[in-house]
Amino acid sequence: MKKVFLLTLGIINYSFGQVDYQTEIQTIFTANCTGCHGNSGGLSLTSYGGVMAGGNSGAVIEPGNHGGSLLWQKVNSGAMPQNNPNLSSDEINLIAQWIDEGALEQPALMTQPNTWIPKEYILNQNYPNPFNPITIFRYELPEDAMVNITIYDMMGRQISTLVSSQQSAGYKSIQWDATNITGQPASAGLYLYKIQAGDFTQTKKMTLLK
Ligand code: HEC
Repeated sequence: MKKVFLLTLGIINYSFGQVDYQTEIQTIFTANCTGCHGNSGGLSLTSYGGVMAGGNSGAVIEPGNHGGSLLWQKVNSGAMPQNNPNLSSDEINLIAQWIDEGALEQPALMTQPNTWIPKEYILNQNYPNPFNPITIFRYELPEDAMVNITIYDMMGRQISTLVSSQQSAGYKSIQWDATNITGQPASAGLYLYKIQAGDFTQTKKMTLLK
């Protein structure tokens, strides 16, 4: 029984072929980019957090949209790595695939069944932050739960509801395009986002730029 289960997992994982950030994407940046994009200001490509935080002109990754992502445009046009040989087309395609899969730090499916289910409830800081106008919230559910993710302004007024449903355990993400309940763009400023899942509640701050 267990054997069949593991085999099925292997097949699922293989057929989706999801890109793993650490072993596949970060290695490209470490080999080709971090000599210039270290941690001394501007775009840092030394870690997932740095990549998603972006550079002087804001976000360089738009999860789900490689063509709209500045980082992909720069490597695809050959503008980056600057003064160095271009990345191979395989590397450029891998970056595109990773972005289109949601630019996650970890693949949504793992081969180790135990690491499938997070150990505890977690609400991560949104990426990018500050943002304009799209940002992503990643959260982890250790068990099936009724989940609400709500955005408030600093006066405590509800701006938008991103999730309000029963969800299964796992690694989750949801994006916000900075529109309010009526579909109008929210104004620049500080906002709160709050997750309620089972008995877990957490609130974090974020900044919308214009
Ligand atoms: C030899 C140094 C050098 C290398 C190597 C290099 N870059 Fe850059 N990069 C720069 C400089 C300088 C800038 C800022 C000027 C500009 O935007 O063209 C920049 C800007 C960028 C930007 C725009 C950032 C922003 O906020 O506007 C992106 C994206 C980028 N690089 C990605 C990469 C990637 C990905 C690699 C590796 C595949 C890489 N770079 C390798 C020097 C380098």
